[in-house]
Amino acid sequence: MRSPSDRLAKTLISEEKLQERVAELADQINSDFKNSNLIVVGLLTGTIIFLADLVRKIDLPLRLDFIGVSSYRNNTESSKLVFTKELNIDVKDQDVLIVDDILDTGKTLKSVIDKINTMHPRKISTCVLLSKKARREYITPADYVGFEIPNEFAVGYGLDYAEHYRNLPFIGALNN
Ligand code: IMP
Ligand code: MG
Repeated sequence: MRSPSDRLAKTLISEEKLQERVAELADQINSDFKNSNLIVVGLLTGTIIFLADLVRKIDLPLRLDFIGVSSYRNNTESSKLVFTKELNIDVKDQDVLIVDDILDTGKTLKSVIDKINTMHPRKISTCVLLSKKARREYITPADYVGFEIPNEFAVGYGLDYAEHYRNLPFIGALNN
């Protein structure tokens, strides 16, 4: 059991499929970022496992940093994004690759892109492990997408439900 109240319904993406796809994404990144000053920016906390696998397959000189974003819901249903950790590395005139676990409405990634844009990078690219197209509300470009998934709540391989399930080596879906 991975959480106190185990609600795991099924496997969406196996460990083998994840590893295979991460290697493909890394291959693409390796060829697209030759000769660039690459800074990889991971969004905390959901990306940590994906990112650990991805960067070890990137065969380029790179620097790694993290940005913290949390969304707090209030009574009126709207959610407010709060930055909980700022970047340590100066991204001015550098190529930034933002990595997130899942692109849902697109709000989180859009706000991070907007924020990093104010720091005048040379170029921003984005990479997400998962995407739920059906849920998109904000126009948010993802240059590298691991998997398109159906509109289900995904957990594992870094993704959480109330901070649980991050340690699963595969992606599962929760019961409704
Ligand atoms: P967005 O701002 O609506 O695109 O939501 C993105 C963030 O919500 C992600 O970085 C995740 O932290 C979280 N999220 C959205 N969908 C899921 C899911 O299916 N499982 C786990 N976390 C999710
Ligand atoms: Mg998250």
